[in-house]
Amino acid sequence: GRVAVLMGGLSAEREVSLMSGKGVLAALQSRGVDAFAFDPSVDDLAALKSFGAQRAFINLHGRWGEDGTVQGALELLGIPYTGPGVLASALAIDKAMTKRLWHFENLSTPKWREVGTLIEARAAAAELGFPLIFKATHEGSTLGLKRADSEAEVQAAYLEAARFDSRVLVEQFIEGDEVTCAVIGAGDQARALPLIRIVAPGGNYDYEHKYFSDDTRYICPSELPADEEARIQDLVLRSYRTLGCRGWARADVMIRATDRQPFLLEINTSPGMTSHSLVPMAARVAGLEYADLCLLILSMAAL
Ligand code: DAL
Ligand code: MG
Repeated sequence: GRVAVLMGGLSAEREVSLMSGKGVLAALQSRGVDAFAFDPSVDDLAALKSFGAQRAFINLHGRWGEDGTVQGALELLGIPYTGPGVLASALAIDKAMTKRLWHFENLSTPKWREVGTLIEARAAAAELGFPLIFKATHEGSTLGLKRADSEAEVQAAYLEAARFDSRVLVEQFIEGDEVTCAVIGAGDQARALPLIRIVAPGGNYDYEHKYFSDDTRYICPSELPADEEARIQDLVLRSYRTLGCRGWARADVMIRATDRQPFLLEINTSPGMTSHSLVPMAARVAGLEYADLCLLILSMAAL
């Protein structure tokens, strides 16, 4: 049947979404899938029915696409879709809610406060200590993310995050190795892909470095000791199950330099699929080409 590849959308990550979607569309078509592009910011989702879409491949990032809203619309339309369902998507887009659940399940995540005003931000900073990361609670691709190393930097960091969101997450910064881990599958069948270690110039893996620069180094296989890699994969699998994810997702993790303790940062339920993106890279190391990865994710589309 026909497959709608959803891309674009209304969030700040629209540009990234279009890059992801175009890659997936071309890959599915190269394997003979009757796929077409669909941008829900332009078209009405209900029109998917008249286009004869029998499944949807979601490549929307951020709000109004990765957050359960489009998933809910597809539920109403009866069109199976890739990736996690409504609840897991809505939880994962909210970094504070995600951390609350992980904390409840004793899964390691940096200490944090969620704030809505500069006064609250200053109080949170005093409580948590420096360095801190300020981030928009509901954004991706490091948009609205800024580090503060002292009280003098709190205001600028808070205001940057607040440009993108009314809720701001203030989180202790973990100094160490940055890794990411993709998971594919549902429930007991879920499997973690090899870790990717990310080495950005100056430790600054921001929007530019994610999508437009070639000086970030991605190390996969990660070169971490096998037992450490296995422990982190296990942590990520538990984080995935805690939120009730299915299909696929990718969790970002920091490994503290001093004692090698891993800390979960967030989980992305519609990970990037651009030429610079990480899930395709890990899949390749696991022996799965980009188009095979797309077909596998599509095969798990569900309602
Ligand atoms: N939010 C971007 C697309 C990612 O996590 O890959
Ligand atoms: Mg993200």
